[in-house]
Amino acid sequence: MGIIIIIKLLFSAILVLHITLILQSTAEPIEDKQALLDFIANVNHTRNLNWDSRLLVCSNWTGVTCNHDNSRVIAVRLPAIGFRGRIPTNTLSRLSELQILSLRSNGLNGPFPSDLLKLGNLIGLHLQFNAFQGPLPLDFPVWENLSVLNLSNNGFDGSIPFSISNLTHLTALDLSNNSLSGNIPEFNIPTLQLLDLSNNNLTGFVPQSLSRFPSYAFLGNNISFLNSSSPILSPTPKKHSSKFTKPAILGIVIGSSVLAFVAIALLLIFTNRNRKEDNSMSPTSKNKKKEKSTKRMASEDRNGRITFFEGCNLVFDLEDLLRASAEVLGKGTFGTTYKAALEDATTVAVKRLKDVIAGKREFEQQMEIVGNIRHENVAPLRAYYYSKDEKLMVYDYYNQGSVSSLLHAKRGENTNTLDWETRLRIAIGAAKGIDFIHSQNGGKLVHANIKASNIFINPQNYGCVSDLGLATLTCPVSPPLMRTAGYRAPEVTDTRKVSQASDVYSFGVFLLELLTGKSPVQATGGEEVIHLVRWVHSVVREEWTGEVFDVELLRYPNIEEEMVAMLQIGLSCVARMPEQRPKIGDVVKMVEGIRNVVTGNTNNSPTISHGSTPSAAEIASSSVS
Ligand SMILES: *[C@@H]1O[C@H](CO)[C@@H](O)[C@H](O)[C@H]1NC(C)=O
Ligand SMILES: *[C@@H]1O[C@H](CO)[C@@H](O)[C@H](O)[C@H]1NC(C)=O
Ligand SMILES: *[C@@H]1O[C@H](CO)[C@@H](O)[C@H](O)[C@H]1NC(C)=O
Ligand SMILES: *[C@@H]1O[C@H](CO)[C@@H](O)[C@H](O)[C@H]1NC(C)=O
Ligand SMILES: *[C@@H]1O[C@H](CO)[C@@H](O)[C@H](O)[C@H]1NC(C)=O
Ligand SMILES: *[C@@H]1O[C@H](CO)[C@@H](O)[C@H](O)[C@H]1NC(C)=O
Ligand SMILES: *[C@@H]1O[C@H](CO)[C@@H](O)[C@H](O)[C@H]1NC(C)=O
Ligand SMILES: *[C@@H]1O[C@H](CO)[C@@H](O)[C@H](O)[C@H]1NC(C)=O
Ligand SMILES: *[C@@H]1O[C@H](CO)[C@@H](O)[C@H](O)[C@H]1NC(C)=O
Repeated sequence: MGIIIIIKLLFSAILVLHITLILQSTAEPIEDKQALLDFIANVNHTRNLNWDSRLLVCSNWTGVTCNHDNSRVIAVRLPAIGFRGRIPTNTLSRLSELQILSLRSNGLNGPFPSDLLKLGNLIGLHLQFNAFQGPLPLDFPVWENLSVLNLSNNGFDGSIPFSISNLTHLTALDLSNNSLSGNIPEFNIPTLQLLDLSNNNLTGFVPQSLSRFPSYAFLGNNISFLNSSSPILSPTPKKHSSKFTKPAILGIVIGSSVLAFVAIALLLIFTNRNRKEDNSMSPTSKNKKKEKSTKRMASEDRNGRITFFEGCNLVFDLEDLLRASAEVLGKGTFGTTYKAALEDATTVAVKRLKDVIAGKREFEQQMEIVGNIRHENVAPLRAYYYSKDEKLMVYDYYNQGSVSSLLHAKRGENTNTLDWETRLRIAIGAAKGIDFIHSQNGGKLVHANIKASNIFINPQNYGCVSDLGLATLTCPVSPPLMRTAGYRAPEVTDTRKVSQASDVYSFGVFLLELLTGKSPVQATGGEEVIHLVRWVHSVVREEWTGEVFDVELLRYPNIEEEMVAMLQIGLSCVARMPEQRPKIGDVVKMVEGIRNVVTGNTNNSPTISHGSTPSAAEIASSSVS
């Protein structure tokens, strides 16, 4: 009897466990979902959304992003869906944890949707390019987290309410292309960086608190800058007297024609690809130009969607990514990276992957792993897009450029070459980033593409690695075609044969590159190709250790021992046999120890103890000293 009861209890316990597991894996913000369903059921729209109540709102619904545990909806991005009419009240305003709302480029009308004022957590509200009318709310609440408010290109009229000064953390305010009138109130928002009040019907003076903004923020109104000077009435910007020198102009001309060329090439690719589909699409937007590009996006969106990771406050859609100024930042083994300037003044790096053979599911799983990595030494993946024809990854843009570009900038072109301190911090940061990556996915994740052009400098001035985890998604590429050839470990015969040990090898090559200032593969005048690793080995063997270091570094006193210590670490990482290379965790300790080693016991060859593993520096030191 007792046994039967116990067994029964056990069964029910297992059942409960099972159910909770199922519930957890399909956790859904039920109330938020209902709010979205109520919204979509009460608004006319021309494009179909896949907002099926049977699908998971957090992982399947277009344009919806949830928080980490899928308990709340935090972003709704629905640009150019062809919404018409008013925003139904008491729908979106129930998403009380919402941070980003973008309904731009639709045909929404009616008065300012004032029940959105309840969304106290909003960071970005993007309602531009709609047909809203009437006055702005007189009583903006204290909206302490609102950072971007874009109401441009609507039909708002009346005056700018003084309560706008309640938006105390605003960084961008765009009210341009409306019919606002009256004087501009004296509102003082110190955080404000971008202001656009152009093309309204405003009068009077630019208040003192806004005089720091450039004149084009006020163009197309009847406003004077100083209370004695003449009004600016020109709807076209004043021509600035040219301050550019001839070479600068030449540079700009060349630069912009290259840009234009790339942009046109991209455009041709996409329009060709979508021409057939275009005919079948229904019109979505009010102005013709917009309509054309919107269609393009809609057709792209049919078999894919942009997935945003948590913490991404950016608002963009596929069209933005594709049409954004397509400046090529670099071409790599897995695709080409472009710089894309988004409309809210942020810039992102967009990588277009080529030769992806992974299916949607496999691709998404890998993106989830990569996209959820948050570490100060790993460049965060912000979003990705997958469709049959196009796979894109969106990263932060680092305006200093990659370590490769900093290291190999033509001398004289870039006056601030990397000093030794910076190189040390780059090495420490990058090693930590790789160490963290190697701990992910049950300790199995491989970066697979470590090279100077994938390493950046984070805001704390340490190295930060990017572009990881792509090798398993793409066609295997063999060495002659690999763009990373100089960083490739000898056992890696194609891009899929990578391992954590081959990452360590690549990192070792990177350390040698930091030390020597030389590219890992160098074509010397003729046909001859020099591999950095072989070259360093040959020089070190001849006991010319001092010869390998970058001449730029010789300017700094008392660093030779530190450089030698790093050289030893680099050489231990590029050991021929994978099993002889140290683990990245040990490499972290070694590079962090470079400074201590030298200040600790000078003259002795560095000995860094890390448990039972033999010191990699020791292994290497035989070939150095
Ligand atoms: C949707 O459009 C139809 C036809 O234009 C109109 O009758 C209906 O009221 C609209 N519905 C909403 C919710 O606006
Ligand atoms: C919905 O999302 C889940 C989890 O990401 C995925 O497994 C499933 O295939 C998706 N379903 C559809 C119809 O997209
Ligand atoms: C603003 O953001 C901070 C940090 O994310 C959060 O703690 C705070 O609750 C938010 N304020 C409001 C009013 O939502
Ligand atoms: C700012 O918000 C508070 C609270 O919502 C309100 O009482 C006050 O009138 C607002 N300030 C202005 C200038 O409108
Ligand atoms: C303002 O509207 C005009 C005409 O509709 C348009 O040409 C212009 O691009 C708009 N300005 C902005 C900043 O969107
Ligand atoms: C601008 O203001 C003037 C005078 O108040 C008014 O006559 C005119 O219609 C306004 N124009 C627009 C576009 O609102
Ligand atoms: C511009 O404003 C001034 C006074 O502020 C007024 O005299 C003038 O008529 C206005 N011009 C137009 C075109 O509205
Ligand atoms: C005009 O300028 C004077 C002197 O700079 C200043 O005292 C006055 O407040 C200004 N008037 C307006 C309307 O800004
Ligand atoms: C507001 O939106 C318009 C049109 O999408 C864009 O051009 C502008 O840069 C945005 N303004 C800000 C301040 O982000």
